[in-house]
Amino acid sequence: MANDLSITVNGRLHPVDASPDTPLLYVLSNELSLHGPRFGCGLAQCGSCSVLLDGVEVRSCQTPVAAVAGKAVTTLEGLAAWYAQQNGLAAAPALHPLQQAFIDEQAPQCGYCTNGMIVKGSELLARNPRPSEAQIRAAMDGHMCRCGTYPRVMKAIQVASRAIAGATP
Ligand code: FES
Ligand code: FES
Repeated sequence: MANDLSITVNGRLHPVDASPDTPLLYVLSNELSLHGPRFGCGLAQCGSCSVLLDGVEVRSCQTPVAAVAGKAVTTLEGLAAWYAQQNGLAAAPALHPLQQAFIDEQAPQCGYCTNGMIVKGSELLARNPRPSEAQIRAAMDGHMCRCGTYPRVMKAIQVASRAIAGATP
């Protein structure tokens, strides 16, 4: 049943049918057909469901949809446009530089954790475009990869960092 709740996701306002305490992840998947965020643990432990909320990574499996009303949710699908907006670019690239780096470096294996890795990595690069290896490790600490792709994730973030440095003033 429809209620008065609306949320802004990837720059567009969407009415929400679900009850206010429904996890944001379910609304993104079931109502908006945004399948970048994945259900992993459901306990805010693994990071596969991560999205940006006003530019800060949150776990959408443990975030009630009512809690994001009036804020800007960015999912994997909206990262390139978010990046363009953050950097004052006239047009959004096809992919966020970190998405491109994940492809170029073949960072994913099964890909289940990839959403969270890219969302968190993008948050890091937005506030610290040239992170050290230690800073990348610290930022990514709460993101689990059962395939053990951590070295390739590290490399992809470093590659994206260099790409961003070359692409932005
Ligand atoms: S599914 Fe949300 S943190 Fe694991
Ligand atoms: S690539 Fe399989 S869980 Fe990370």
